[in-house]
Amino acid sequence: MPEHLSTGVSTPNPRLYSPRNLKRYRHLVVGLSHRLAWKVDNTRIADLYAHHLAPTHLEVGPADGHFLTQAPNPTGPGGEPFPPSLRQIHLLDLNPAPLARCARLLGERAQVITHEHDVLTSPWPLADDSVGSVAMFHVLHCAPGASLRHKHTAFSEAARVLPETGVFIGSTLLGAEDVHTHNNWLARRLQAAYNRPGRNIFHNTQDRLVDLRAMLDLHFTDVELTVMGAAGVWVARGPIR
Ligand SMILES: C[S@@+](CC[C@H](N)C(=O)[O-])C[C@H]1O[C@@H](n2cnc3c(N)ncnc32)[C@H](O)[C@@H]1O
Repeated sequence: MPEHLSTGVSTPNPRLYSPRNLKRYRHLVVGLSHRLAWKVDNTRIADLYAHHLAPTHLEVGPADGHFLTQAPNPTGPGGEPFPPSLRQIHLLDLNPAPLARCARLLGERAQVITHEHDVLTSPWPLADDSVGSVAMFHVLHCAPGASLRHKHTAFSEAARVLPETGVFIGSTLLGAEDVHTHNNWLARRLQAAYNRPGRNIFHNTQDRLVDLRAMLDLHFTDVELTVMGAAGVWVARGPIR
């Protein structure tokens, strides 16, 4: 990557991602914001987890662990929550409370390894080819960078830790300037507030679908990228290093 696209360094926000806020995250963010502001279909995200989680999985930015811990067992007869096939889960997050909460929720159901680490800092503390799936939902719009091209480390590191057969799933909210959020009044108002300097909630004003496509294509050979409300959603295979 050219030097002018050097990746930034994120500042933790433990007041926002506090144990108290994480308890209401599911209701306020997943329940209300996803539906009313971002127009994101939670069922579709849950389906991506159900179809793509590998026995050894990396979850980037779990917050309250909602989608990961609710993932149904795609092979089980009753669709019981949480795939029993999951053996080892790596959780990577900038803030300590999501790691602690998600690890506690996962309990004894898998071996859980936590990494307090910035998604933009290379290398991630995982070996090459070490996980079968990586999920990164609604993390990149929280990470600083003048555009999604400046967040390229997140894509190159996901490609590095996945083997040839691995899959990278995720979504990120596109900035208010992107044509896909332009007609969504509530999304634009909230994004303006969350992007206000000093708040350290969102950093996605210039995040555009065209750059998301470019970053995924740079690091994966087989990319499905679609728009869902204000978000770009992807399933990427065939990591390129
Ligand atoms: C908006 S929540 C998304 C939660 C969850 N993935 C979902 O889709 O509901 C953002 C999560 O990413 C974490 N996070 C924010 N910036 C990060 C960064 N630079 N590196 C790693 N994790 C980060 C937050 O602590 C939080 O757990």
